[in-house]
This record gives sequence, C-alpha cells and structure tokens, in this order.
Amino acid sequence: MNKKLIYLYMALGLVATDCMADRNSITPGETWNDTSGSAINAHGGCVQYWDGYYYWFGEDRTKTVCNGVSCYRSADLYNWTRLGLALTPSGTMTDDGKDIAKGRTLERPKVIYNERTGKWVMWVHWENGDDYSEAKVCVAEADQVEGPYELVDVFRPNGCDSRDQTLFLDTDGTAYHIYSTSMNTNTNISPLKEDYLSPEEEINTQMVSQKYEAAAVFKTGETYYGLFSGCTSWDPNKGRFTYAYDMMGDWTYGRDFKDSDGSNGSNFCVDSGKDYSYQSQSAYVLPVEGRERCYIYMGDRWNSSNVGGSKYVWLPLSVRSGYPSVRWYDEWDMSVFDSMYRYKRVAQVVDGEEAYLLERKSNRLVSRPKTTLTLQDDGESNLCFVLHETERPYTYKIEEKGTGTFMTSVYGSIRFQTEAESEAQMWTLWLEEDGYYRIENLSDGKCLSVSGNETIAGTSVYLNDQSSSIHQSFALYFDSEAHLDEEEADLYSASYREENLRRMEEQEALLTGIAGVRQDVTDQLWVRVTKGVTEVEVYASEAGEARIDLVEAGTGRVAWRRRAAWSGEETKVFPLPQTHPKGVYVLRVRMADRQATKKIVMK
Ligand code: DGJ
Repeated sequence: MNKKLIYLYMALGLVATDCMADRNSITPGETWNDTSGSAINAHGGCVQYWDGYYYWFGEDRTKTVCNGVSCYRSADLYNWTRLGLALTPSGTMTDDGKDIAKGRTLERPKVIYNERTGKWVMWVHWENGDDYSEAKVCVAEADQVEGPYELVDVFRPNGCDSRDQTLFLDTDGTAYHIYSTSMNTNTNISPLKEDYLSPEEEINTQMVSQKYEAAAVFKTGETYYGLFSGCTSWDPNKGRFTYAYDMMGDWTYGRDFKDSDGSNGSNFCVDSGKDYSYQSQSAYVLPVEGRERCYIYMGDRWNSSNVGGSKYVWLPLSVRSGYPSVRWYDEWDMSVFDSMYRYKRVAQVVDGEEAYLLERKSNRLVSRPKTTLTLQDDGESNLCFVLHETERPYTYKIEEKGTGTFMTSVYGSIRFQTEAESEAQMWTLWLEEDGYYRIENLSDGKCLSVSGNETIAGTSVYLNDQSSSIHQSFALYFDSEAHLDEEEADLYSASYREENLRRMEEQEALLTGIAGVRQDVTDQLWVRVTKGVTEVEVYASEAGEARIDLVEAGTGRVAWRRRAAWSGEETKVFPLPQTHPKGVYVLRVRMADRQATKKIVMK
C-alpha cells in the first residue's frame, strides 16, 4: 500500500496501525521506525511472545533522560506498533529510594510471565538519576503483558550491587535473575521466589573477575548459553559467551578458554567487525516462535550523548556449531532461518559416510571455491567428503566426493590426489569433548588448521603441527536435505560430552602403542614427574631427538611441549609450568619409534 495513502487512511481512522505492515526485512544499525513513522525507542530491552504477538520492551529515552519503559507490539518482528509506556515514572523522589519518580535511571528492563500467579513481572536496573552508585533493581508487576506495570519494590538483590541485569525463565518454570555485581567484576545468578518478585537467598557467583556486562541468557536442549560484553561504558567491545548445563552450576568459557588477545571466553561474532560486536552490546536473545533453535541476537548500538537515539543491531543467531554464533547481514529476513540447520552434526562416524567439515569457531564449512581450501558460508563451494575406514582405528581416507580424489599431505601441504596406498592419505580423527576432531595426517603428524585463527568467510585451511594455540577443530555434518533419515547427534545434552570423554579415553588407550610406536620400552625411554608435579624427568638410553608433550586427557590438546636432543644415555629434567588449569593430563615422550606416557593430575 502507498505510504501516503496509509497515513491518510490512518488520519481518517480507516486503518489499524498494526496492519501497516510495509517492512519485510531487518537492517541492523539503521533507524528502525515504528508503524507510525517514529523511531522505535526501546533500548536495552527484551521481547516476549504472547498470544500471536511479540512484545518489545525497552528503555524509553529523550536524549539521556529516562521516560520509563516502552512497549511495542508486532506480529512479524519487522513492523512494530507503539502501545505506549508499560512502566511510567510516577510519584516523587523519596529518601529510601523506593520510587520510580521522574529523574530516576531505569535501564535494561526484562519481562517474564508467571504462570502460577497469572501476572507479568518486570525487573529493571534502577539508579538514583545522578550516578550509578545505587546498583539496585526495580521490580514491577502487571495483569496484561503490555502493562501498566505497578511498582512492587526497589532493592539490592540479597544485598548485592546489581547493575546490568537480565531474567531467564527456564522450561520448568523456575525464573533466574542474572546480574553484574561486585562493581561489575563477577556475575551473580539467583533463582527467583515463586512469585518472581524477589530472589531466593541462593547465589551462584560465576564468570569471576571477568568484568562481564550485558548478560543475555537462553537455552537450547539442556545447554544454557550466556552472551556478555566487556565493560567499556557505552562503547562497544568484543562479546563473549559462556555455557552451563545447570543454571546454578559451573559456567564454562567455551572451547577456547583464552581468546587470541588473552581475554577469557569466546567471541560469538564471526565476521568483520566482530571485535566490537558489530558496534553493539548484547541486550537479549530472542527465540523465534515456532522455529527450533532459531534465535535473534538483540544488541544496542549506543549513542552516549543521545541514548534515546541509539540504534538496534538485530541479527540471526545460530547454535549449529554447538556454540552461539552471530554473522553480520546488512539486511536480512526470517527466511535466513529456513536453512540455518540444513547441515546437522553426525551422530557417529561410519565407513562410507558423506560428511561436510564444520570448523568450530567460525561455524563455517570447509570449501574449495577456487584451488585452495577455505572456510565458507553454506553454498556451492562446500566440500562433501566420503570417509573410508582404514585398518588403523579412528583413521580414515578422506575422499572429496565431487572429484573422487583423496585428501593428501604432500610435504605438509593439502593436495587432492588419486587414491594411493600411502599414509599421506590417512587421517586420524582425534575426538574432542565437544564432538569436534583434530584431523591429523598419519605420515607427518600435520593437522588441518585455520589460518590466523580467523573466522571470516574466505579464511584458508592448511596443514600445521598440532598446537594448542591454532584452531584445529572440525566436526562432521550431514546434509539433512540429502539424507532425510540420518540421525543427528544430541549435541546440546550434557551426556553428549560425557560420552565423548569416555570415547576419548578409549581412543587414547587404543592408539597408544600401535602403528610402529612401541609403548613397553621402559628400559630405553621413560618419563616421570618429581617434586610434586613441578619437574619432568625423561630418561633415554641412546642418542636422538625427543618430543615431550603435556596432553589434556579430556580434550587431547597439547598444553605444553618441549623438544630436546640426547647425545647418548642420559636423564634430563624440565621444569613444568604451574599455569595449567586443574585436571588430568598425560605426559607423552616420543623418540624415534618409541613412546612413553605417564598420567598425572594437576591440582
Ligand atoms: C553499559 C551498560 O551495559 C549500559 O546498560 C549502561 O549502563 C552503560 N554502561 C552506562 O555507562
């Protein structure tokens, strides 16, 4: 419908504003007008789906002044109609601060529905209006989703300072309050009482010393994911994610505990602009109604001098890789979700299996658009491989289906060659806890690696030595459009990891001591730890080059490595750095065709 005509009809009262559906896409970072033509004013917000409509709540601001919490409604997530203020400032400022008078600061409103009480509950970060020293929450309640919300209380949860905050409503009806605390140093998680109006006493302090803000929590299967930002006021920074299988249990920083810049946690953004979260800060993760595992990352592109004029960065979020991953789109619509999960994780590696290789950090597939291997978005250039068992357990020949040629390590470079009886065409798949594999060539030990640890499309895939600092993890995915009945791995369950840990032990035990590597050589080569676990002693009975690896038993990752030469019979001592996380490790020494191992526990 012509816009002018619509406005004319509207003026004549002939058209309901909800019907003015003229947007059919989302353009992150651009001004987003509501159905009346005004810029949407709902910052740091959240969205709830109720009875056929989405309701968007957020900070309503004029410049930096807080006007309350606004509410917009949409049936399609593109076209939003303003319903007004869900929480309106009222009353006068009181000494005890238990008010929402005009002039107070109200940030990051989050709303959930309480099935037990039939009420809608809103939690908001509350400040006195002058500074951020109060660090309280304001809790309000309503009978209708859109409000009006009435103030219940303003307080510090369990006496703790609470700044950026969010709510998460679990599938069992338990609600949680998640907030930055201890001057934004840690994150606290508390279940809410049955009425959702105050927290239980139990506090789970997580992400200790990480200085995370802007928490946004969601759940896939049994996995809880948390998105966060760093702490740089209104300026954007690199986002991070963590995950847990129990809201009140331990939250983990993700497979790459340290990012390349030394910061904790893994970045959930994977495209150019990722180091500043595409110029945004997380506000919420919105599950799209009726679409399994499809989420929208809701971020704010803040303008500190005109917070009310800040823009929104909404992008599709996928957990296909097992981890949250957000790509950049200049413009997108809901059809992005149609094929988001076309490729699914295989449940088991089977001889003759067709598989695509998905790289862990980028959520992109190994592809060959030109001559060399690169990581690419789903499309024509993705390579479909066929895995052929060899006589060695866990070791496969990897055929490229399109050409019938085999992945080969030629002097440490990847080539595709006709089939040969050569170890250069044999690849051991070393399982990792999260179901990814390190893919190691049998002849030279080189592993499939990601150039520069990049995640953007076009990043090269090449061969390098095994390393804890290079991305070398690939999982097998099948095309669900071609293989309708194939079983998908249950990768969002806690038991998936437990089972993988068990399989890894099995693999380590089986592969140690075969294929020319003799294990029982204690008279010629041995390794042990001394002085607590501070030194490694290695004995070799004759001259040669040795490689000593400290391998994480859980992941197969090399945490520490030394190389040394023996000129004859000798015992050498190496200091063992005490910086490794607690856990079970295997010390492995390899010298010519000999190997010695020793299991150790770092406490
Ligand atoms: C960052 C927070 O995430 C925002 O909600 C806001 O509180 C700003 N800090 C204020 O500097």
